[in-house]
Amino acid sequence: MKSKRNTLMTALVLAFSLVLAACSPGQSSSSEGASRTKGDILVAYFSYTGNTEEVAGQIADLTDGTLGEIQRVEEYGNLQEEAEAEILEGARPEITFSVDNVEDYDTVFVGYPIWWNEAPAMIATFLESYNFAGKTIIPFCTSGSDSIDHSLHIFGEICPDATIAEGLTANNEDDIEPWLQELGMIQ
Ligand SMILES: Cc1cc2nc3c(=O)[nH]c(=O)nc-3n(C[C@H](O)[C@H](O)[C@H](O)COP(=O)(O)O)c2cc1C
Repeated sequence: MKSKRNTLMTALVLAFSLVLAACSPGQSSSSEGASRTKGDILVAYFSYTGNTEEVAGQIADLTDGTLGEIQRVEEYGNLQEEAEAEILEGARPEITFSVDNVEDYDTVFVGYPIWWNEAPAMIATFLESYNFAGKTIIPFCTSGSDSIDHSLHIFGEICPDATIAEGLTANNEDDIEPWLQELGMIQ
């Protein structure tokens, strides 16, 4: 009789543990609907004097994204002349990017300073360097005063098969969190 009761108790404990395990978020198997992981969000940026880099860092912190820096391989001689000319000419200066597996990310923030009302030519190089079809690209910028709007055309031109989300002129730190909430990137 006692051993029957023990067996019953053991079965109950086992069943209860199974229910607990199934409900625990840490126990979900990889085949179940995956919760968001760090691997999903990339925050790519080019920054010349550090303003855009700071915003990119805040976005990466808030979204738990991976930060990646776009750098121009060659330094400018005369920034004013060379950077404007390459934008006007549609040049694609060689870049390096600090993250390898770009195409593993579903959502890619792309940040840059506004230069002559446009994105620096390194951003065009970056957009052309990978296949962003089916991904979501979220542009952001910093500027002296201009908004991001005029610079946005390159995203649709270079990545016609990506979804381009609403961009942010991130000159005011207070705008970042509400924008991310509106995009559904944070709660
Ligand atoms: C070469 C150059 C061109 C710029 N052109 C503009 C412009 O057309 N409109 C604007 O509002 N700000 C312009 N700015 C200001 C930058 O967009 C602004 O300082 C930005 O925050 C710099 O970002 P960074 O520190 O990440 O490089 C320009 C700055 C530089 C260096």
